[in-house]
Amino acid sequence: MSNTHTQIFPTSAALSYGAAEKISAALSAAHIRGGIVSLALSGGSTPRGVYEALATAAYRKKIDWSRLHIFWGDERCVPPESSESNYRMAHQAFLRDVPLPAHHIHRIRGELTPAEAARAYEIELRNTFGITGTEIPRLSLVLLGVGEDGHTASLFPGSTALHETRRLVTEVYVERLNTWRVTLTYPMLGNAEMILFLVSGPAKAPIARAVIHDGKTEFPATHVALNGREVEWYIDRDAASLFDDPEHA
Ligand code: 6PG
Repeated sequence: MSNTHTQIFPTSAALSYGAAEKISAALSAAHIRGGIVSLALSGGSTPRGVYEALATAAYRKKIDWSRLHIFWGDERCVPPESSESNYRMAHQAFLRDVPLPAHHIHRIRGELTPAEAARAYEIELRNTFGITGTEIPRLSLVLLGVGEDGHTASLFPGSTALHETRRLVTEVYVERLNTWRVTLTYPMLGNAEMILFLVSGPAKAPIARAVIHDGKTEFPATHVALNGREVEWYIDRDAASLFDDPEHA
């Protein structure tokens, strides 16, 4: 079972700054634990405000960027300069403004074929954490979003990726979007030290109720669990509007 908590913020801006503070605290704790300090970014539009908060002077100073490794939970199979690229969004929102060593930014190479990109990313994950064999790297913090269909990362309902139990990373064809993606798998997500879901806006109210409030298992996001470690849901009031008590989780 996970150690799951939900926090409801009055606005998406408050959620962004609350999430930046949570990220800063989680990375400080990871520094104290020692080892590789790593943050896996989510794509889509919700996290942009969080990333922009991380680029402000307050967090530029607060976070020790020199030791941090950046990964992604998933990527579209597009070149890094594409407007669809999760890497490009993060680069524009904060990566270009913080003092991260360039070789600590481990993007999924969407310009390769899906299978090559997935294979290369899994090798990069293993090499960065210095692990071999069947050991699974432990990311310090994974940011995730939830789609209106209940997907998270690129683990979409009905996709083959949901049943991957061996690989850390897999390529996946998303029928509904008629596109290929590369995603971390449940084994990799489930070994993280902490997961922070970010859910914002009225359009997410039905899925937030179904996944967070009701734990409906038909949705992939419901199956992201850590063995007793922390899964945090940061949502704004609009996304919580169908909760029994939209003010308090
Ligand atoms: C992606 C994301 C994806 C995203 C959800 C929510 O590559 O699009 O990783 O899983 O988190 O689709 O997206 P929004 O935040 O844009 O609603």
